[in-house]
Amino acid sequence: MNETINTILKRRSIRNYKQQQISKEDLNTLLEAGQYAPSAVNEQPWHFTIVQNKQMLGKLNQACKDIMAKSKDPQMAKSGTDANFCIFYNAPTLIIISGDTKTIAPQIDCALAMENMFLAGESLNIGSCWIHGIYNFLLSEGGKQLKKELQIPEGFNVCAVAGFGYKAGEIPEAAERKAGTVTILQ
Ligand SMILES: Cc1cc2nc3c(=O)[nH]c(=O)nc-3n(C[C@H](O)[C@H](O)[C@H](O)COP(=O)(O)O)c2cc1C
Repeated sequence: MNETINTILKRRSIRNYKQQQISKEDLNTLLEAGQYAPSAVNEQPWHFTIVQNKQMLGKLNQACKDIMAKSKDPQMAKSGTDANFCIFYNAPTLIIISGDTKTIAPQIDCALAMENMFLAGESLNIGSCWIHGIYNFLLSEGGKQLKKELQIPEGFNVCAVAGFGYKAGEIPEAAERKAGTVTILQ
């Protein structure tokens, strides 16, 4: 099996990170990989916001937990009030990709950029996990102020959010792949 296929098959969502920050060199590699994703008519409609500031990470976590605490789902509400719970699993870096709403397919382009970063990360032993709660929060009315503080450009919507950090602990096994998801017409 070649290295690329091996990297794709090995990547898992990681929920346990070392607290050592990602090196500048590795971060630049991730960002370059993201920016080399395909995009509709090559619009490259993305903006990458790298959050490593502990205060900002704490604010994002708390804002999402406050929403979770009000959930009707008991598990969700419990996590929202658990002082030890971090919605992005204490990843030392959060990457938010926002897309220019005036372009053809910002959501798709940004998701492709994020997957490129996941795979680049995997090749560098950097784990990652998509964090939908932050994505939902930043798209909501309540997230507007933090979106400003994060300097998300005017006219851009948040499309993808993920935590990144060097992996710690055991790597989870891949879930079984669903059967019956392929049709080949020959
Ligand atoms: C759109 C999207 C949203 C996700 N949201 C979350 C999330 O909020 N929290 C989380 O822990 N994992 C989240 N995940 C990770 C999935 O749970 C994970 O990809 C899935 O269980 C398959 O596991 P794998 O990535 O290790 O192959 C998300 C993944 C995607 C693609």
